[in-house]
Amino acid sequence: MSSTQSRIEQLRKQLNDANYRYYVLDQPTISDEKYDALFKELLELEKAHPEYLDLASPTQKVGGPPLDKFSKYRHREPMLSLQNIYSSEELTDFYDRWAAVIGNDFSIVGEPKFDGLAIELVYENGLLTVASTRGDGETGENVTENVKTIRSVPLKLRGDYPSLLEVRGEIIILKEDFEKLNRDRVKNEEPLFANPRNAAAGSIRQLDPKITAKRHLDLFCHSIGKIEGARFKTQWELGELFKDWGLRTHSLKKKLHSQSEIQKFFTEVEEQRESLPYEIDGIVLKVNEMKHQRELGFVARSPRWAVAYKFKAQEGVTLLKDVHFQVGRTGVVTPVAVLEPVWIGGVEVKSATLHNEDQIKALGIKIHDTVVVKRAGDVIPNIQSVITEKRTGKEKTIHFPKHCPSCKDAVVTSDDEVAHRCINVACPARLAETLKHFASKRAMNIEGLGDKWIDILLEKKLIHHFSSLYDLTPELLQTLERQGERSAQKLCDAIQKTKSNTLDRFIFALGIRFVGERTAELLALHFGTLNKFLNASEAELLHVEEVGEKVASAILQFISDKKNRNEIERLIEKGVRPKSIQAHGGTTLQGKTFVITGTLPSLSRDEAANLIRSHGGKVTGSVSKNTDYLVVGEDAGSKLTKARELGVKELSEEGLKALVR
Ligand code: IVH
Repeated sequence: MSSTQSRIEQLRKQLNDANYRYYVLDQPTISDEKYDALFKELLELEKAHPEYLDLASPTQKVGGPPLDKFSKYRHREPMLSLQNIYSSEELTDFYDRWAAVIGNDFSIVGEPKFDGLAIELVYENGLLTVASTRGDGETGENVTENVKTIRSVPLKLRGDYPSLLEVRGEIIILKEDFEKLNRDRVKNEEPLFANPRNAAAGSIRQLDPKITAKRHLDLFCHSIGKIEGARFKTQWELGELFKDWGLRTHSLKKKLHSQSEIQKFFTEVEEQRESLPYEIDGIVLKVNEMKHQRELGFVARSPRWAVAYKFKAQEGVTLLKDVHFQVGRTGVVTPVAVLEPVWIGGVEVKSATLHNEDQIKALGIKIHDTVVVKRAGDVIPNIQSVITEKRTGKEKTIHFPKHCPSCKDAVVTSDDEVAHRCINVACPARLAETLKHFASKRAMNIEGLGDKWIDILLEKKLIHHFSSLYDLTPELLQTLERQGERSAQKLCDAIQKTKSNTLDRFIFALGIRFVGERTAELLALHFGTLNKFLNASEAELLHVEEVGEKVASAILQFISDKKNRNEIERLIEKGVRPKSIQAHGGTTLQGKTFVITGTLPSLSRDEAANLIRSHGGKVTGSVSKNTDYLVVGEDAGSKLTKARELGVKELSEEGLKALVR
């Protein structure tokens, strides 16, 4: 074996071991930085030595090219469901039925019931060959490429693995990632995921594995389908074998010997529910001994030897008292349900979102209806359904207002979106939201100027747009109730301090439609100064990465609006001077424009773009005569043709790296 080959194998082993220690043993041994460094070294070696390709290498977890659609996959053994119970009485019934068949000498394995997406992984001779969704239980979808990107899914089993293993588990998304995903969807005006399970499912059912790879999904293994070449007598032993084979199981698992032990475990797990980083909705109880499992067998679509003991739903039934309409920063009018207060999972719920008119129609909901309200994690409560049996005939249809609830201007709708909008830019409701956004942490970051303050200042007519914030003086603030000298001074200082914020923050703070933090940063990097940004042409905007026609047109609309221009002028008069930001790293690519096409061997497109930007270069989405270089990966399409027509220089990933060096 050559020394390169042995280094490659050593790296693969080190990385696999690191994943195993991290996910399965829960004992991380190396830092993320070290992991990344080893990963990078391996990528480079594999690239230089394609002869040592191994499809089970940890580098294969980055996600292949997009698919057109998922193919169907038939499970060797059907994927069943579990019967549910909800009370200790139902538990007694179940327990007694078990005892009637298998006697009293049995134990139970209890573990959390994950609220995720059921998945089956097939390992043939230790290699992951297929991953599929449950589908109708008989046939699911082949989502192998996506599942491969999940870090806790081993591509190759460890130790003394069976020749065939169909392992089943749950793919979950962290609550925090779920919330971030929804925040992004709000920003992009896309429909929200109702719960983490839908978000996990949506992430796995992405045709582009690279999108799945970004979603931080995780896997917990809990059961099997067909298995050949392994011996075990109990469910518990099987769980231990999972670990030996490198498959992640949950540590919150316990062997139980009586109903009272089960009940205690149920309570323990329920107490931990809120603090777990992902959603669970109960516990699963499985008869431990395989011989007993065989004796108990199956009923219809469920095993008789297992049951899901569900937590009390995070749901409540209450009355819809009224619907209020809120106007957001972009003018979208959102219906908010006003509820008769109800306690759900230890929290008093008084309102819920109704999203938009489509949602109201889909629910068929009316004012005075009795409704089922659900809390999913820390998300705004949702109305699940209407209990139509409880109708009295006095219910009232919900009408969307024809006029903005705040400024009374006409509300408009358009064919291409469900939203109702107030298009008056001077609308007070929009203004409040606009100012809150401007001051918020991720925008201008005016410390101490929270939402409440803005409401007060607006009410007292002390502010009416961004620039008036900079006119506030401690004396003025002190005229407000309960406002001490020191804190008034502090707030004014905090406001003044933001005059020298960076350009990216400033652009983001303006609240231009579709311009999130990242786009603002790209715009700031591209244009360098506020003045250049304000005078951008459409063509120039389209040259900024991630700026497509929709975004460019929103920016143009904003910067060509007279009122907006005047307001920015006033900000400058008050001394606001957004600082240009420097790409980190260097300036070797300064003034050069790049386009990336196709799949690069080791860098993702984002990584390549970041590399270019961090050395002062520009990355744009389409080839034109202004393009200096086209970075070409595998399966390059029309961009390459165009670049050749225009005589644009071509670069490989290696070439790009060399240029940077
Ligand atoms: S054992 C019936 N254990 O719940 C097959 N299932 O309604 C035995 N689930 O689709 C499954 N957490 O994917 C088992 N700890 C756990 C589970 C679990 C969630 C899912 C499972 C199945 C559904 C059953």
